[in-house]
Amino acid sequence: MIQFKNVSKTFAVGKREIHAVQDVSLQVNQGDIFGVIGFSGAGKSTLLRLVNQLEYPTKGSIYIRDTDISKLSARELRKQRSQIGMVFQNFNLLTSRNVFGNIAYPLKVAGYKKQAIKERVNELLTFVGLTDKANDYPEQLSGGQKQRVGIARALASSPEILICDEATSALDPETTEDILRLLKKVNRELGVTILLITHEMRVIQSICDKVAVMENGRVIETGEVFDVFTNPQQLTTRRFIQSVQKDLPSESILKEWQKTNGGKLYQVIFKGSATVDPILSTITKQYDVDFNIVYGSVQELQEKLFGNMIISFVGSEQNTKKVLGELEKRVEIKEVY
Ligand SMILES: Nc1ncnc2c1ncn2[C@@H]1O[C@H](COP(=O)(O)OP(=O)(O)OP(=O)(O)O)[C@@H](O)[C@H]1O
Ligand SMILES: [Mg+2]
Repeated sequence: MIQFKNVSKTFAVGKREIHAVQDVSLQVNQGDIFGVIGFSGAGKSTLLRLVNQLEYPTKGSIYIRDTDISKLSARELRKQRSQIGMVFQNFNLLTSRNVFGNIAYPLKVAGYKKQAIKERVNELLTFVGLTDKANDYPEQLSGGQKQRVGIARALASSPEILICDEATSALDPETTEDILRLLKKVNRELGVTILLITHEMRVIQSICDKVAVMENGRVIETGEVFDVFTNPQQLTTRRFIQSVQKDLPSESILKEWQKTNGGKLYQVIFKGSATVDPILSTITKQYDVDFNIVYGSVQELQEKLFGNMIISFVGSEQNTKKVLGELEKRVEIKEVY
């Protein structure tokens, strides 16, 4: 659906060159919710602005469907732009128009007839759950309601693609979840492909199918959210994951454990269907070893389970070794303390 091929964007500021995006190749498939995560200045917004041609690449090309978007005529470009909806962090609503007027605005500009606009706007108000707010002005709305208007407006011309620049960054955690649910509904019910950028891992965790991690203008890691979460390759990726999911207790708790209980601690990671309890209890029983769960969590990611347990074994050294040998065949296990 959207393909970046070796895309770079360099800004010249006086004599200095800023390499905002460097040699990025990415493929966003139709129906994906694709998230790009990175710290401030990583180049995320620039990457998005290249898609709707608010910026042009210095090198490389961007394809939407099979078209190189740099080759579009002015007329084709206008048409292309109407196929891409954009949602902003600060909502960008017109303060002088009410909710109805804000959603109607792009349709008015595109020359739709009054009756058609009315029908479409009412449809969108129902979809985003704001039918009772049609006559309110932006200043009368909460942040979450403003973003619902922003999303309805972006959907007005029935785009195939929605691009979101930090759409939830100005919202509290609960409202963030609300808006993310709405974006998921846009994707699942309307079949809209979503490309979003964020610096919050919980946004990726909550709705994205695929993720790319950006650092200094480059994509340093990309893949299915489940795979990247359960097996991150880069330090930056790990830091983002740790912001939503602590995989180890703090050092002081580990020390305390060591002092009072002694023995080694192991981290067991299990994915998908490998539920850890029966595996652990069956194998330890077989060798007359007990186990303690010291710390752990099981999470759902992309409708799959992902668990992380810190455990210790109580039993003879020889039997514990055998247990470890058996476990290694079934789950990921490593000594952590
Ligand atoms: N128009 C511009 N002129 C010069 N430099 C720019 C321009 N736009 C972006 N940059 C620079 O490019 C780099 C990437 O900026 P960008 O806005 O894409 O980052 P970002 O990942 O979106 O960051 P944030 O999370 O803070 O929004 C930064 O160093 C920024 O200063
Ligand atoms: Mg940005």
